[in-house]
Amino acid sequence: MPVAGLRRVDHIAIAVREIDAALTFYRDTLGIMPSVVEDVPTEGVRIAFLPLGGPDGTKIELIQPLDPANSIGRFLEKHGEGQHHICLEVDDIDAALAHLQAEGAPVLDSSPRISAEGRAIFIHPKGAHGVLIELVQREG
Ligand code: CO
Repeated sequence: MPVAGLRRVDHIAIAVREIDAALTFYRDTLGIMPSVVEDVPTEGVRIAFLPLGGPDGTKIELIQPLDPANSIGRFLEKHGEGQHHICLEVDDIDAALAHLQAEGAPVLDSSPRISAEGRAIFIHPKGAHGVLIELVQREG
């Protein structure tokens, strides 16, 4: 049985060394205006959201580590810049988590974490054919 209430791709996240440098491509060359550029100290990252397609559209999220030792910093050291995760929106994150755990999916969170968007969980790439998957239930 599949996860219920799966809506759409919420964002695609890209790990970058410097957001300001990345914006010269994503903002100036592609022409996607960032809606948010901010430090998220609790996560040790600086993020930029680049929305496409209006309120029901999708975002590109640029993530820059503020600490080279955190998970994004280690990702960059190991892989270089590139796609970090894909985020899918769900109606009910608690139901999705319980379902995935029951199915034996390698969920990295035992309870939803507070993300920039709402409440979120991550599924290890080994369970998703090489891609880190985030599921989020948006707030409001
Ligand atoms: Co994300």
